[in-house]
Amino acid sequence: MTVNIRNASTNDIPLIKSILSQYILETELVEENIDQFIVAENVGKVVGCACLDNSAGVIELRSIALMPACKNKGLGHRLFKTLEQRAKGMTDRIYVRTTARGFFDKMGFRALDNSQKRVLWQDCADCDKFDVCMQVPMVLKLR
Ligand SMILES: CC(C)(COP(=O)(O)OP(=O)(O)OC[C@H]1O[C@@H](n2cnc3c(N)ncnc32)[C@H](O)[C@@H]1OP(=O)(O)O)[C@@H](O)C(=O)NCCC(=O)NCCS
Repeated sequence: MTVNIRNASTNDIPLIKSILSQYILETELVEENIDQFIVAENVGKVVGCACLDNSAGVIELRSIALMPACKNKGLGHRLFKTLEQRAKGMTDRIYVRTTARGFFDKMGFRALDNSQKRVLWQDCADCDKFDVCMQVPMVLKLR
């Protein structure tokens, strides 16, 4: 499987949204944040995506997802490594809020106390589902 990782363009928006929807991940901000997305492309077809969001005052890895048939082939790792390189010029740590904790453990992230979500993110502080939210806050310190 030959997969190229590249910056996303507006043409990729429908496929990015389609991939994110399969996992009930947020799609509302894709248009607004398209410049911060990268995609994994296999023979001209987008099979994965990820985003490095810096809109909330912290650098956050968001919206990382692969088409189901393309999971567990190292592509998530490649997407992460590409954004990690990009983040090194911007910050000394990357945050994530995730239900895929095992993957981010493997990438070197460390879980934070759940209460940190309210400190780090205004949308968590304002969220009426905070007490039932399954997303774990995690951080990776960059070297
Ligand atoms: C999470 C996701 C992006 C990982 O991408 P992937 O291409 O499947 O992962 P990789 O093949 O690069 O795996 C890298 C390592 O992480 C491990 N891993 C991957 N997903 C994992 C998971 N959910 N739990 C535990 N470990 C996981 C792999 O076994 C591999 O370990 P190894 O290096 O010891 O072999 C992908 O599974 C996915 O699209 N999940 C659904 C969407 C989602 O939940 N995204 C997270 C939003 S924050």
